[in-house]
Amino acid sequence: MKRSQYEELLEPMQLELVSMARWAKTTGARICVLFEGRDTAGKGGTIKAIRDKLNPRQCRVVALGKPSEAEQSQWYFQRYVPHLPSAGEIVLFDRSWYNRAGVERVMGFADEEQVQRFLEQAPQFEKMLTDAGIHLIKYWLTCDQAHQEERFAERLADPLKRWKLSPIDMAARSKFDEYTKAREAMFAATHAEWAPWTVVDYNDQKRGRLTLIRDLLDRLPDTHVEPEPVDWPALGHAPYDEDFKLLKPIPDFPV
Ligand code: ADP
Ligand code: AMP
Ligand code: MLT
Repeated sequence: MKRSQYEELLEPMQLELVSMARWAKTTGARICVLFEGRDTAGKGGTIKAIRDKLNPRQCRVVALGKPSEAEQSQWYFQRYVPHLPSAGEIVLFDRSWYNRAGVERVMGFADEEQVQRFLEQAPQFEKMLTDAGIHLIKYWLTCDQAHQEERFAERLADPLKRWKLSPIDMAARSKFDEYTKAREAMFAATHAEWAPWTVVDYNDQKRGRLTLIRDLLDRLPDTHVEPEPVDWPALGHAPYDEDFKLLKPIPDFPV
């Protein structure tokens, strides 16, 4: 999809996102969206598009790194719990507790018993969240191996993307089928009525993003809330010029 077409389609959805955020703030709704998927599928770009026009204090991103030694000694879900949304918040999890069923399983950071316990308990944990009234939405972004290879290569070649290429990614290249297997086991155990998975095709990332955002908006109540009216009195004085030292604008940027 062309960038111009993408932007044209995205803009009205961003307006809807702003409206949805106003609804959340007014009603105190708590929204929790999980982004999982293939390495390179496009979690980061989607999260960026969703939060672009939103208040960063209201719409938070949670992207936890590898667990510390203390965290490894805790109840598995513990380190995620403090990040769950308060009233009016939208929390976007860039990876989530599902690490245990994906990367931790495939890379051997968790043993089989820990994985099995997780697969059994994740739906119970999520039932507690949804029973408490949290809107929980789970996405799995998928792309085929050819696209993944292309994107890994791009990360290697592009200095702006090089930081994204992690040692885990390098190891994941040869584990595509193991990730598929782990994903199937994860879906079988954790696709619950109260917390279903939605799989989105990200072979075309722009189309994937638009599809996911449309779905996200459709899953939340479509309640329009008008912005509060604002009193806009005329200033009683002339706006004054500040005499701080200004940086001299650069006259001619080289092109
Ligand atoms: P990303 O793809 O999210 O940019 P990485 O590819 O570096 O990040 O890592 C993938 C995931 O694996 C991250 O969520 C990271 O926290 C997790 N991870 C890395 N090392 C470990 C570890 N030793 N134990 C558990 N999780 C780990
Ligand atoms: P198990 O109960 O251990 O036989 O596995 C349950 C599911 O997890 C099966 O669908 C397996 O294909 C899958 N599975 C088992 N071990 C792994 C692994 N190391 N990586 C990915 N998937 C696995
Ligand atoms: C993504 O945005 O999907 C990714 O780039 C993250 C990853 O490679 O794991």
